[in-house]
Amino acid sequence: MATFVCPGSFDPITNGHYDIILRALVHCDNLIVAVGDNKAKKSFFTLEEKIMLLNKVFMDYKSIKIESFTGLTEEFARSKNATALVRGLRALSDFEFEFQMALLNRKLNPNLETLFIMTNADYSYISSAAVRELLLNNGDITGMVPDCIKNDIISLCEEKRIGNR
Ligand code: PNS
Repeated sequence: MATFVCPGSFDPITNGHYDIILRALVHCDNLIVAVGDNKAKKSFFTLEEKIMLLNKVFMDYKSIKIESFTGLTEEFARSKNATALVRGLRALSDFEFEFQMALLNRKLNPNLETLFIMTNADYSYISSAAVRELLLNNGDITGMVPDCIKNDIISLCEEKRIGNR
């Protein structure tokens, strides 16, 4: 039974993430979408919100589990007996960070492979940061996040805006 871990911030999940996760699922038995809970890194959506959104997106997939982790991705993957980490790659600008992270993780655990899946060209321009930017400026996020959570994301953003007044 091969278990893969797809780690990330998912702040929020985009259609780019969604596409990578479903394409990775074809190559394993179980896939854990692991939301990094890094207290030092300020996120726009809370951990609970990110997990709620992910659970809604993947609720029909029995082989996908949503979890959160603190500390090292490698330690989390080891605790789940995962054989590989999955990351998506967009432009060349992703490469340097991904290359370093893959090498660090392999140094920590030579048995843990990092698999890269090249973005779908349709989503290559989408990022969580771009979605957040659009949200904060009332831009249209249609097609950038899974349809089933689009309104949840807009409502959560509106709640935050009201809370900040
Ligand atoms: O979606 P992101 O922001 O690119 O995800 C980054 C994430 C959470 C995968 C990365 O920051 C991470 O792995 N954090 C945990 C700490 C860790 O293991 N760092 C790499 C080895 S030092």
